[in-house]
This record gives sequence, C-alpha cells and structure tokens, in this order.
Amino acid sequence: MRLSAAGAELILDLAAGYPVVLHWGAPLGAVEVADLRAATAPAAPGADLDDPVDPGMLRETARGYTGRPALRGHRGPLAFSPLLVVEEVSIDPACVTVRMADAAAGLALSLTLTMTEHGVLLIDQAVTNAGDDTYSLDELSTWLPVPDRASETLDFSGRWLLERQPQRLPFAPGLRLREGREGRSGHDHTIVQCALTADATTERGEVWALGVLWSGGIRHLAERDVRGRGALGAGELLEPGEAELAPGEAYAAPTVAAFYSGEGLDGISAASHAWLRSRPGRPAQARPLTLNVWEAVYFDHDLATLTALADRAAAVGVERFVLDDGWFGSRRDDTSGLGDWVVSPDAWPSGLAPLVDHVHGLGMQFGLWFEGEMVSPDSDLYRAHPDWILQVPGRVPPQARFQQVLDLVNPDAYAHVLEQVSALIAELGIDYLKWDHNRFLTDPGHAGVPAPRRQTQAIYRLFDELKSRHPGLEVESCASGGGRVDLGMVFHADRFWTSDQNDPLERQQIQRWTSLVIPPEMLGSHIGPTTSHTTGRTHGVGLRAATALFGHAGLEWNLLEATEDERAAITRFAALYREQRDLLHAGRVVRVDHPDPAALVHGVVAADASRALFAYVQLTTSAGITPAAMRLPGLTPDARYRVRVRDVVTGEAIQKRGPGWMSGVDDRGVDQGALELSGAALAQLGLRPPILRPEQAMLVEAVRL
Ligand code: DGJ
Repeated sequence: MRLSAAGAELILDLAAGYPVVLHWGAPLGAVEVADLRAATAPAAPGADLDDPVDPGMLRETARGYTGRPALRGHRGPLAFSPLLVVEEVSIDPACVTVRMADAAAGLALSLTLTMTEHGVLLIDQAVTNAGDDTYSLDELSTWLPVPDRASETLDFSGRWLLERQPQRLPFAPGLRLREGREGRSGHDHTIVQCALTADATTERGEVWALGVLWSGGIRHLAERDVRGRGALGAGELLEPGEAELAPGEAYAAPTVAAFYSGEGLDGISAASHAWLRSRPGRPAQARPLTLNVWEAVYFDHDLATLTALADRAAAVGVERFVLDDGWFGSRRDDTSGLGDWVVSPDAWPSGLAPLVDHVHGLGMQFGLWFEGEMVSPDSDLYRAHPDWILQVPGRVPPQARFQQVLDLVNPDAYAHVLEQVSALIAELGIDYLKWDHNRFLTDPGHAGVPAPRRQTQAIYRLFDELKSRHPGLEVESCASGGGRVDLGMVFHADRFWTSDQNDPLERQQIQRWTSLVIPPEMLGSHIGPTTSHTTGRTHGVGLRAATALFGHAGLEWNLLEATEDERAAITRFAALYREQRDLLHAGRVVRVDHPDPAALVHGVVAADASRALFAYVQLTTSAGITPAAMRLPGLTPDARYRVRVRDVVTGEAIQKRGPGWMSGVDDRGVDQGALELSGAALAQLGLRPPILRPEQAMLVEAVRL
C-alpha cells in the first residue's frame, strides 16, 4: 500500500500478515516492494531472534520485539501479549483500512491510514473486546519508524508564561516519554514530537513528526531500541482503569497526525497549516482585530469606563471587543463565582445589554469570557451541588486558583453550563466566547471511576452544541494562556490564547514555536501594556505591534491611558493588519535560519510568492557592529521584487547613516526608496538591517513586479 501526497509518502507492507512500514519519508519513485523488503531487512545478530522480523506498527512482544508495544492491556492475568493478524484490508487511493484479530486474546483491531492532499497522514486505531469478559486497556498508541539518519529529537516544553520552548536532543538509545496528565493538554504540551536529521533547521533538512488530535491526557514517545532502530509514538494517556472494555465494546484512539518534511521545520508547518486551513467549520470571515479588556481593567468592571474604552477601540480600528473575567455572580476577584453564569447586578446594575449594544452600535463584535468547566467552592452552584465536581469519593481535590473542576460527565452539570451560557448568548447577542480553563485536573473521577477522557469529550460536545445552536458563534480556547493549545481543540475552537505572556520579547519565541503546526491566524496575539505586567519590561509600540501582527492580532491594553502618538501608531498598525491579513493568514510561514542569535528573522510568503512580509527582530545586541544580513527566502528566484520598510515598527537606530538599500527613509522611518532585487538575491544576499537598539523590530515587505 502506497500513500503519497505533497512530498510525503508511506509504504505499508501487509504481506507478512501484519502492518509493516517499509518507508515513511519523501516519495521513492518507481520501486518494487520485494526490493524494498530486501533492502530494509536486517542481518541476524548472534544474540537475537533466529529469523529477525520487523516489529511493525504494533510492535508486539509476541513477534520477538522488546521495545514498547503499541497495544498494552490484559484480561485479568490473561491476554497480556497480543498477536494481531490481518484478516481484511480495504483500499482506496488515499486511505487504507486494515482489520486484524487475535482470536486467542479475544481482540480485534482496526487501523486506518488516510493521506490528505496536503501530505498529512492521519492514523486511526480502534480496539474491540471480542472476548466474553472485561478487557482492561492500558494504552493504544500509534507508532511509525523513522530512518536511521533521524539522529536527533525535538519536542517542546513550557510553563505558564513560557509555552513551547524547544528541546533538541540526540536520539539516543532508550525511550523518551512526554506525558501530559493534567486533563488538558497543558502548558508543557509538545503538540508534536519530532525526529530530525542532524543538519535540519527551520529551512532545510528532514523532519518527521507525530501529534495527537486530543486535548486531554496525551503521551508522545521516541524510542531507539536495542537493535538501533528509531521510532516515534503518540496516543492518549489513559488513567488506570479508565478503559475497561466490556464484551463487544470498542475503544477508538484519538487520531494521530504524521508529518514529514524534506524542507526543514517550515515544511512541517506548511503541511499542517494547509491541512488545518481546510478543516470543516473554519471561520470564513477575516480574523477581526480584537481588544480584550483583561490587562486593561482586570476585575474592575464599570460601564462608563468600558464604554469609553469601546469608543477608543473602535476609533483605532478594533473589530471585536471582548469582556473578560468578572462580570458574573459574585466574581469580584478570582476567589468566587465560577459556575454562576448570570450577570452580576453589583458590577452591572443595568445588565450587560448597554455595553453589548454600545459595542454593536460601534460596528464591533462582542465577546464574553466563561470558564464553564470550573466551579468556585464559594458559588451558588457549589453550595447547591457540592457533588458536581470531579473527585474521588470521600475527598475533595486540592484547590487551584480557588476552584474545582465541574464534572461535565454528569448530565445535570453539563446541562446547567450549556443552558446558562446558551441563554446569555441568545439574550445578549454574543458573537464570541473566550473560554478559559485555569486549573489542571487532579483526582479526575466521575462516580468513583476515572473520567478525564469523557470530560474532554464533553467539552468538545459543548462547544459543538453551542456553535450549532448559535450559527456564526466563535470560541477562543484559553487555559491560563496556552494550557490547551493542541491538535484536538483546533477542530472545536477557532482561536487560542497563545500565552498570558504579553511581553513581546518572550512572545516572539512562544509564537515562533506554537505556530510550528498551529496556523498563525488561530493564535491570539495582543499588543499588551507599555510596561509588561508579567516581566516589568517596557517596550514602545514598535516591537509590540511587530509581534502581535503575526498572529490573530489584537490589543490588551487600556487605550484610555495611551498617548495620542501611541493611538496614532495603533491606528496605523490596525490598517496594516487589515491590509496584510489575507497574506499573513494564508501564506507560508518562513522562520529564517539566521546566523546571529541576537536577532530573529521570520515572515510569511504568499502561496503564489507574489508578496511577502518579513520581520527583523533585534533581541539583544549583535556581536558584529553591523548586524548580519536579513535573508528573505521563499520568493520566486527569477522574479523581481520591490522591497521596502513598512510603517509602525521601525525603531530608533544607532547609526550615522542607514544601510544603502534604505536610502530615502522619511522621518517616521519609512523607506521611500524602491529597491528592486530578484527572489534569488533576496534569498541569498538578503538585506543589511539598520543598527537597531535591542528589543526593536523592523518590517520589510517584498512585492513582485
Ligand atoms: C487566565 C487567562 O489566560 C487570562 O487571559 C484571563 O482571561 C484570566 N484567566 C481571567 O481570569
């Protein structure tokens, strides 16, 4: 079976009676399967099986494999070592389904591989208990082998305010295991586990990656086994006892996406972004410039202030106004009120309608904050239903942010949230939900049994139901910033709050790596206050705007305190965002492999390479007094482009004279000159940046002539 598209290929061999991957990588062209088998079959070492076999995708111990198996479980003390044999295969050009069974163990397993037109391989597995007593499933992961030249691994760690930090390591013997057991994917969720060639960078080299379409417990694995072979694995992390399959019952693992790129990490982004841009339900509307009031007013809600803020927002070009935490129940700070989704008469004596109507009257959409999976012990809901929380019977989990997790597996608790939220959407005409999730799950039990899987399914169902009841409604997924950014939630939410970190310097790295597989238009990115609330660093509008521009842009700043100059700069930024968003939200993300660690260069190139927008970001001072050239790769080599600096983000430069190509710069730093160069010259020679002070940025536009 050969599945190929867009530069990726998987060749699956079923001749031995089980699924063996002969090849995962770039298309091989004309090859005979028998020759491939011969080329890949290893020698038989003295201290190993007499007849060496490939472990296949299921890696069963029963075939003589001693690495981690894909399927782990048992029937009491029995059925601990399955041996699944192919019974039936169905094939169409982009999809293969293989049905396997182990009659002795009483198990049936189906494996479906689908190659999308974008070159993303989607893998679905389901195991059915075909026996006549309970089968306890511990794990069903998806594994794919990687070639020996994949000698390094890359995954991402993180924490609150610093998500998606790359960790690149040798692909050494042993098992690398990344587990998320927070009941949400978590701030340290890697999104994908990669293996790569030693020469791989953002722009070149080979990369293989697996990611799980799931927002609960997740496991990513990379194993180099005792024979020296490397493989990547991914799947759901089940709690002990969570998947007790009754006779006839099946467990369907979350889909796993497999990516291959021969064009470095940016090739993984290109495939993933194209795939996710074709997802069902993707909003058709251009991503509206958003103002979220959290860092502007926090819990200090007041109609007059927020109305004035809405006026300022509309005047600078904001298109969506989002009222954050603090409008409901007894919620005057973060110690109470979650679960009571009714407008607070204390904070909003005339209700929310005056603000909503005012915002709508200004031509903006209105968004409202919820955290519907949570309950504060100090709330009417908890007082009435203290048992509606996820817990182990007889004890209450430790509190986090003064809250507990509402048990959405309980139909009454689920209906309470759904109906209260839905009623408000209908009554007020809410266009957008910002949905938070500020604590991880501990003791995630429903009626005494583990329920994180069902809790995740419940939130997917709830979002889907709200959207179907209220056509056009959009949902932002937030979990103290980027605690639930994953390949599962992309199919239920429309935007992620990438991080609570609004300091643009930190944010540059967070966005660079979160967008490895998540398209930038799904990543909320705001101009925060002048002095960052998280780091205490002060930045001008320039770097903040240049950073926010490359996502789903917005503001999170009290514009009532902004100076006239700052408001003028934001108005220009808003116009630039409106002008460029069709490019930024549809083009190819390019992370330039820049030689100077003191600067970052990245951009977006239109699919037809007719235009591009690049950012040069001076993080700190460069070793050389004149910084390294900024290359602009990805344009058509033999086409000619006009390049110029764009407004808003130029910083002060410590130089007597700018670089040659910037001659004609006006007093706002905007290049009036018209340098024309070929795509090849821009990719190879690039442009000399001005000598910017640290923490300043410059935007450069290239337009094909
Ligand atoms: C955490 C979020 O990440 C913030 O943006 C904000 O919504 C607060 N919660 C509100 O409590």
